[in-house]
Amino acid sequence: MLKRTHNCGELRKENVGERVILNGWVDRRRDLGGIIFITLRDRYGLTQIVFNPGTDVYELAKNLGGEYVIGVEGMVRERPADATNPSMPTGEIEVLAEKLEVFSSSKVTPIYTNRDDETSEEMRLKYRYLDLRRPNMKENIIVRHRIAQIVRDYLNSLDFIEIETPILTKSTPEGARDFLVPSRLKKGKFYALPQSPQLFKQLLMIAGFDKYYQLARCFRDEDFRADRQPEFTQIDVEMSFVDRDEVLEVAEGLFVEIFKKVLGVTLKTPFRRYTYNDVMESYGSDKPDTRYGMKFVELNDIFEKTEFRAFREVIENSGVVKGFFVDEIYSRKEISNFENLAKSYGSKGLAWFRFSNGEVHSPILKFLKPLKIEELKRKFDIASDGTVFVVADDRKIVNTSLGAIRSELIKKKGKIQDSFDVFWVIDFPMFEWDEEENRFVAAHHPFTMPYLSDLERYKDGDLSKVRAQSYDLVINGYEILSGSIRIHKKEIQERVFDILKISKEEAKKKFGFLLEAFEYGAPPHGGFAVGFDRLVAIIRNVDSIRDVIAFPKTATGADIMTGAPSEVNKRQLDELGIEVKLKGDT
Ligand code: AMO
Ligand code: AMP
Repeated sequence: MLKRTHNCGELRKENVGERVILNGWVDRRRDLGGIIFITLRDRYGLTQIVFNPGTDVYELAKNLGGEYVIGVEGMVRERPADATNPSMPTGEIEVLAEKLEVFSSSKVTPIYTNRDDETSEEMRLKYRYLDLRRPNMKENIIVRHRIAQIVRDYLNSLDFIEIETPILTKSTPEGARDFLVPSRLKKGKFYALPQSPQLFKQLLMIAGFDKYYQLARCFRDEDFRADRQPEFTQIDVEMSFVDRDEVLEVAEGLFVEIFKKVLGVTLKTPFRRYTYNDVMESYGSDKPDTRYGMKFVELNDIFEKTEFRAFREVIENSGVVKGFFVDEIYSRKEISNFENLAKSYGSKGLAWFRFSNGEVHSPILKFLKPLKIEELKRKFDIASDGTVFVVADDRKIVNTSLGAIRSELIKKKGKIQDSFDVFWVIDFPMFEWDEEENRFVAAHHPFTMPYLSDLERYKDGDLSKVRAQSYDLVINGYEILSGSIRIHKKEIQERVFDILKISKEEAKKKFGFLLEAFEYGAPPHGGFAVGFDRLVAIIRNVDSIRDVIAFPKTATGADIMTGAPSEVNKRQLDELGIEVKLKGDT
């Protein structure tokens, strides 16, 4: 076998005159005036190989096709000045082939392997091993690896230790549906795949490990989207004897390190902090992209005395009128779609003001004195053409419906390149009312420490006002990290379970081991988990986390390449004591 002496990305002018062997894939073949040029590709790069006519290797090279895997031996020579390729690191040299060995041939590939084109994702996933040969995809996976190493180096340097936690385990409480694995030895019983290592990392703190991390696989059977996969990876971190700010500092250091080393970008610390209430009031979302502006402004003072009844009545009934300005003009049809969107979030309508060429248009103009329009312009500092959208209703409806429109407008505006909007959202509510279940559920998870002062204050009142010692990191409109200070006392944990209507029996059955552990000396602790796939996607500037996962699932949770999930044979089911009954649509 012609074993390589160099890889396809490393030869330079200094190597001219050396005899080398390269191994790789035929990226491209061109026959030019009797000379055959091949671009040979491996993970490290591309090198041009030349086959001169009249030689034995030339005859062999005639049969080479795209994606053949070959070994080539030859001499490195300088390319003529007019043939250098400055866009290729090896573009100043080429290898004149003397020996050729074909390791394997290739059929014509069903998708391109050497350029990024619009091939359907289905084909890309079916032939993922070919898709991964494409330069961008290869780079995504390599950068993912580098980020993982930076994470490990950084956390190791701070004395964190990496500990693995079980994959076959018991249901964990992140709020999604569990994937279940039937047990053969205990028929009728099931393991659950972990939605996160949450309980184990807390137990590791109780065990005294002090600082833990893991690049942890998590499994959640939920609806999949561009930023959600049924199995995904977290950078999972937990620390003992810390307060919130110390945890945030460790996380900030981690992000600073990653952005600096991978992108050369310096993130300014400390990161901005908003409370959950701040972002909901200003942007109607707990993960806004603030680069787009469009901040909400309260307009009660402008509208409280207007003749427009809908607004006046809202204000009289202690509701709010709020709006935001966007520097775009939309068609009636677009606006009517936005109005429907607002209504789907419970608002009764969507008022708008279009400022263009010095004129104002609005369906409610007739109710307003010109002075009010001037006030409105001042409120939003309107200096250019654009649109103000306004909703009047209860605060929550106003925020969520304006928030939905804001997100829609952002989608229309498209991505902002090459800048990063990084901030913390802190003080989320501890409890959220679940209409379906008719009870409170934990907004983050039930092990999050509430502000005890809030718990005391609202114990007989509105529990949705109790804040949690939790935090999210948002980058460019994505929730990249989530974490909290945890409860480490049994009494508080039981009180929270009580509010969540998790009975003592149920708590004991599900989390009894944790409650028991709290009785043997639990340190105060807290931590976080970074959505690793989302982080890599942002760094690589791709829209879907599928592009940074080597073998992801489709939107229906299928792996088109292997065919998973698939049926199993009767013997396997018998061993597990399982009978499959299909009900309705599968
Ligand atoms: P959480 O459930 O918020 O917190 O998850 C942490 C982060 O993981 C990412 N993420 C996902 N990424 C891809 N696909 C998914 N289906 C998916 N679900 C979540 C998000 C999210 O911010 N145990 C807690 C963390 C803690 O409290 O320490 C937890 O799992 O970026
Ligand atoms: P109407 O007078 O009901 O035809 O409404 C005139 C305009 O005001 C329409 O564009 C409605 O969508 C809008 N509108 C009505 N009620 C509200 C509301 N509560 N909040 C925002 N816009 C509203």
